[in-house]
Amino acid sequence: MSPIVAIVLLLAANEAQADLNDARQSALDRAMKAVAQAATMAAADPARPRYHFLPPAQWMNDPNGPIYYKGYYHLFYQHNPYGDVWNHMHWGHARSKDLFHWEHLPIALWPSKELGENHCFSGCAILTPSGAPRIFYTSIGQRLPEQWAAVPVDDDLRVWSKHPKNPLLTEQLHGSVKIHDWRDPYVFQEADSYYMVAGGNLNEHKGGEAVVNLYQAAKGDLETWTYRGVMFKHPDKNAANIECPNFLRLGDKWVLIVSPHRSVEYFIGDFDPVAGLFTWKRRGIVDYGSYYAPNGLIDPDGRQLLWGWINGFKPGKSWNGCLTLPRALSLNAGGMLVQEPAVELQSLRRDPVDIDAKVLHDGETISTPLGKAELEFMCSFKCGAAGSLRLRLDCRTESESNFDIVATADNVLVGDTRVPIAASDKPERSLRVYLDHSVVEVFVDGGEACVTKVLEGCRDYTAMHTSAEGGDVDVSSLTVWPLQAPL
Ligand code: FRU
Repeated sequence: MSPIVAIVLLLAANEAQADLNDARQSALDRAMKAVAQAATMAAADPARPRYHFLPPAQWMNDPNGPIYYKGYYHLFYQHNPYGDVWNHMHWGHARSKDLFHWEHLPIALWPSKELGENHCFSGCAILTPSGAPRIFYTSIGQRLPEQWAAVPVDDDLRVWSKHPKNPLLTEQLHGSVKIHDWRDPYVFQEADSYYMVAGGNLNEHKGGEAVVNLYQAAKGDLETWTYRGVMFKHPDKNAANIECPNFLRLGDKWVLIVSPHRSVEYFIGDFDPVAGLFTWKRRGIVDYGSYYAPNGLIDPDGRQLLWGWINGFKPGKSWNGCLTLPRALSLNAGGMLVQEPAVELQSLRRDPVDIDAKVLHDGETISTPLGKAELEFMCSFKCGAAGSLRLRLDCRTESESNFDIVATADNVLVGDTRVPIAASDKPERSLRVYLDHSVVEVFVDGGEACVTKVLEGCRDYTAMHTSAEGGDVDVSSLTVWPLQAPL
């Protein structure tokens, strides 16, 4: 090639790169501007949660790629910067040092239209063998879904760029196996190997073939992947598909969390990396309420945290969706999942109001004025076979309404959601409740069951009435903390 042709080609390549950079910048600027414009209206809504994580404005759904890196928790999330309903999936991004003060960072990923991408669907983030963060996500376009990666451009993880070798995984990997709705990669490390799980189904949503697929990375490289096969098939015939699988280790057990278009479930068992199979022995529900598509991280203390998407808000307020509080996961003596709010949240507490421990006789009520929108309360109690404890919250919406939590010996009713409680030998029961404007998060019996509810339009809580019904209830402690929402 003559030197002149080489120079012309180089100039053309530079120009093309500059055009690409301009296109990238303007896609990001447009998205950020749309969010900024909606932020005033979003912030003005008195029903918008204040200490649950949410974007500055507009729609969010799944938490994506939580990762701890260089002193910060990073959270990404499915985000539509252009409206408060689902569309145009971008990855929003924020970071925090303490799990409750979040600094919003520029949108991390947006659809690369120039590469035929229309949405950046859910995924994960992991440190590569050399210690660099990497995002894996599902790229959606006018083609079959593909699994793509993105790499940080700076050490603060403010700017991300799509991996030059995308797509890293395509459906060709599956040979003759057809996986429908193939998406939501979750990468984990076991011994010195890296694996990925991704959801889908084998029969176009007909039921009974909802699966989690396993992939393994070539040694020392997260770019070349092989398909190891179906690692788990949902045991229920009416489970049509699996989204957002998470696969994590708690002690010597493995926990598979799946979002099968209904309540999020967990399965606990053993993983055989040689056979590529997960064999489960126990199962349960992660959260019985308005909760979906959780994702988590392991922090430097070895703590496994999990966030879920709280859904079910009405559009029209320039915000829609938020995350649960970060929950620390463990297994109880019976080998079932326990979720407790991260202890850091206790620093939001202000002076508590303690209500004297006492036996409430059938029909007796203690009323506690509240007058706050951000609250936590904790109640420990014993009720006999006949007695139930009712906590009634008076809420201010457009008008007045109330919301009840009723605990009996074998279940807890949170609004209209009934949670079965394993017949247990523990006489003392507990309810820990977080109220944050229109969001209620309930941890039953130290986190053995969780329920998240949306109280549409709820601005604040004026009073709580604690009563015994059908028999005596021994309330051994009842404490209410006003919470200081982080600025
Ligand atoms: C779960 C989900 C994922 C998908 C994403 C799209 O809520 O449907 O399967 O990647 O949301 O926003």
